[in-house]
Amino acid sequence: MASIRLKELEQYLQQLDGFDKPKILLEQYPTSAHIGAHILYTAQSQYNDIENCAVADLGAGCGVLSLGARMLDASYVVGFEIDSDALEILSRNCDDIELPVETVQCDIVKYLPGKFDKTFDTVIMNPPFGTKHNAGIDMKFLEIATKLATTTVYSLHKTSTRNHVLKKGREFGAEGTVVAELRYDLPQAYKFHKKASVDIQVDFIRFSLDS
Ligand SMILES: C[S@@+](CC[C@H](N)C(=O)[O-])C[C@H]1O[C@@H](n2cnc3c(N)ncnc32)[C@H](O)[C@@H]1O
Repeated sequence: MASIRLKELEQYLQQLDGFDKPKILLEQYPTSAHIGAHILYTAQSQYNDIENCAVADLGAGCGVLSLGARMLDASYVVGFEIDSDALEILSRNCDDIELPVETVQCDIVKYLPGKFDKTFDTVIMNPPFGTKHNAGIDMKFLEIATKLATTTVYSLHKTSTRNHVLKKGREFGAEGTVVAELRYDLPQAYKFHKKASVDIQVDFIRFSLDS
């Protein structure tokens, strides 16, 4: 078991820089240090899916999940992300925390199908939910994730879409289990949000792939 404790993991993740100017159309909502630490710690302590595993992070953003996986001793981590500004921050975070994460700048939906199939043990992701003129992108991320991973995909999805997400998972050969229901606090990153933050219900789902 990785030597780092949950509290320490959360403290490290808290030190990472987030998006400077989050881009609405890319749904750049960061995973909080608290949620990131809990989901990664659960993936490792309950399922042994991080330590010594090859891990991909789809929509890596500034690297909360990628770096958290490295802190839990993933053998290597590749973060796939479309936005060069986010990747610059991710790279700075890697330097600050002195852990390496490989990155690939790409549009996951266009670039990844047919590439890196079964290259990773585990895929982790907090995908765009598909609420910004990009309906269905969350399911495209899920389908691609199930091709990249040999064993497991961990993903966050709006609780309101649970039945649909679990059904799509089965179509992609992955049996989903809701590990936790989270209250995801979207900070007031965008001008159109009137409140300081908006809570949404989000499922943390573990998809186990058919072998
Ligand atoms: C909800 S954010 C999650 C960011 C980060 N993984 C985290 O947990 O804090 C979704 C991320 O997906 C990226 N993204 C959106 N559409 C994408 C696409 N088509 N290809 C690659 N990345 C994309 C966004 O730029 C953003 O960084």
